[in-house]
Amino acid sequence: MDAVDFVILLLHPLIATVFGIWLYRHWSTIKAIRLKRGGAWSRIRNQNRDDVIAEHERQGRWALPTILGVILFAILANLHRYVNLDAEFDELFSLHGWLGITLAFLTFYMTRTGKRMVSQREEKSSMAKMKGIHRRAGDLMLALLVAVMFLGFLRAIQIIQP
Ligand code: HEM
Ligand code: HEM
Repeated sequence: MDAVDFVILLLHPLIATVFGIWLYRHWSTIKAIRLKRGGAWSRIRNQNRDDVIAEHERQGRWALPTILGVILFAILANLHRYVNLDAEFDELFSLHGWLGITLAFLTFYMTRTGKRMVSQREEKSSMAKMKGIHRRAGDLMLALLVAVMFLGFLRAIQIIQP
């Protein structure tokens, strides 16, 4: 495997790691508004609550396009492995990949419920029910993220070893 192959294969893990860290911060910051404790709370305790929520909504809208980009780089890496590095077709799929795609569906759902809350707020109707759904889906998303990241590191070791 030469340097170019190495870079193509590692682009997805690198971007995905940054995305994972960002998603964790995104989630823990908005959680801290309610829990009022932890490292994220000390970061935002002096900020205006409405500003933190507005930033959550603004950044949250980027989650779906970003995770789709992360998956696109994985597909490109797998195409390269199949076409140029003689990988078998079966080797292109893994539990990590399937869970990663599930995570993208959950991200889509988070965006949908998040946007619905915003319209409910604008219509001045109650957003309590949607908030409960959004919160629980966010917790599930975090658990899934941890599993995907862990399996991703194992997959990187498996693919890079000669
Ligand atoms: C993957 C992306 C997202 C994650 C992981 C996420 C996660 C969360 C979490 C954990 C909460 C706290 C719920 C609670 O404890 O009360 C929350 C609240 C909220 N989220 Fe998101 N969210 C995401 C995307 C979005 C998007 C795209 C929007 C809107 C465009 C949005 C709008 C909101 C709103 C309005 C609240 C309620 C804030 C409040 O009034 O306390 N979220 N989100
Ligand atoms: C948001 C997080 C992630 C998502 C949505 C995701 C998704 C995917 C998908 C759909 C595939 C293609 C199917 C497959 O090869 O099984 C894949 C491949 C792969 N993933 Fe991830 N992944 C994520 C994070 C990570 C992380 C953190 C690592 C390692 C540090 C990683 C390492 C890999 C590797 C090595 C491959 C094989 C293709 C390549 O060499 O780039 N992934 N991932």
